[in-house]
Amino acid sequence: MSVTSPTRPAPAGLFTSGDPVRSWTVSTAKPIRYQVDFTPGVLSPDNPALATAGTPPGPATSRRLVVVESRVNELYGARIRAYAEANRLDVTVHVLPAHERLKTMESVFGVARAMDRFGIDRRREPVIAVGGGVLLDVVGLACSLYRRSTPYVRVPTTLIGLVDAGVGAKTGVNFGPHKNRLGTYHPAEATLLDPAFLATLDRRHVANGMAEILKIGLVKDRRLFDLLDRHGERLLAERFAGSGPGEEVLARAVHGMLQELQPNLWEHRLERVVDYGHSFSPTLEMRALPELLHGEAVALDMALTTVVAWRRGLVDASRRDQVLDLMTRLGLPVWHPLCEPGVLAEALADTVRHRDGRQRLPLPVGIGGAVFVDDLTQREIDRAARLLGAHQRRLAAARGARHA
Ligand SMILES: NC(=O)c1ccc[n+]([C@@H]2O[C@H](COP(=O)([O-])OP(=O)(O)OC[C@H]3O[C@@H](n4cnc5c(N)ncnc54)[C@H](O)[C@@H]3O)[C@@H](O)[C@H]2O)c1
Repeated sequence: MSVTSPTRPAPAGLFTSGDPVRSWTVSTAKPIRYQVDFTPGVLSPDNPALATAGTPPGPATSRRLVVVESRVNELYGARIRAYAEANRLDVTVHVLPAHERLKTMESVFGVARAMDRFGIDRRREPVIAVGGGVLLDVVGLACSLYRRSTPYVRVPTTLIGLVDAGVGAKTGVNFGPHKNRLGTYHPAEATLLDPAFLATLDRRHVANGMAEILKIGLVKDRRLFDLLDRHGERLLAERFAGSGPGEEVLARAVHGMLQELQPNLWEHRLERVVDYGHSFSPTLEMRALPELLHGEAVALDMALTTVVAWRRGLVDASRRDQVLDLMTRLGLPVWHPLCEPGVLAEALADTVRHRDGRQRLPLPVGIGGAVFVDDLTQREIDRAARLLGAHQRRLAAARGARHA
């Protein structure tokens, strides 16, 4: 850390002689270090990982506030309590219903009240968050605000949680009509990834997470795309059970995500390939609530920008069709009635504001590469949306003919 003044080199003796210093520059750096680990069997009583996660060195502490999403509590609450008992943890469980429309400051205040009631010792007792992306974002924000920073541990239970919401630094809630408008950067001390939670997740929510995996494949990892292309439908049906391609897909998705996030954790650089699929989707998702899930809105955005990239010669027609076909096979939408000029223009304008006045729009280059552009026109967007609308109608007609 340093404190400097333009007129005096050092802070010593500020008021001892002459004129007092009246201008200071305070500069410091906060090192960030957090752990993300695949931890199969995270709720097995003989696995100590969760009991010790996020605790400081020194004598072990046994009190924990565990915030669990309500459906997850129905499914896994008994196992969480049995785990605590086996590991001599004195847990208080706070059950929190969480879905996109409950991603609000009210939910954050609910967690803060639970922390107050619990009387948390914020230096020794990390909060444990168990749930999907919404719960992780809500608990993360509550922990970030509570006494200006309380450590927490994430146990994601959805696919989006495993590959995206559970591994980065961001917390947030929706505000007004805007997605994640209030939030902070406050990574968990530790994230424990156990894909076994996916066994109980419904198919649509698994597909929803596939969209974020596909994103990494499309702009960063050709092999990941190929794995999804070959095994995606089976992984979806089997909920990533067992070893084999599922393990590799999850590991590559998390690795790709962290490779992009780590050098730019505070997002000072606004050209981010992980923003692929997130230029139009925040507005589409919020406008369509509760109809579209997060990953579904991301898929619409990726379909649109794939077609734009094709028209610009960045992706050839066979790759374009391969991408759209894979999205459809994974149960993801490629078009929605909200993909119309007014909404798309508004969505892009909001994103430009967010990206400091420029589009900085990631477009795919072939499969596995990306480029940032600033010159996307409304005409290009409208034409891509119209082509996708026609594509959707053809798909629906073909489906109708098969069922006739
Ligand atoms: N912070 C980040 O960096 C980041 C990154 C990506 C996404 N997100 C956020 O994540 C959210 C989406 O997360 P999500 O898709 O996990 O949705 P979600 O948290 O709403 O969970 C979806 C549903 O799954 C149920 N559920 C959770 N785990 C289950 C399980 N194991 N078995 C059965 N049901 C289960 C829940 O009851 C919930 O209704 C969005 O709000 C998005 O903004 C955040």
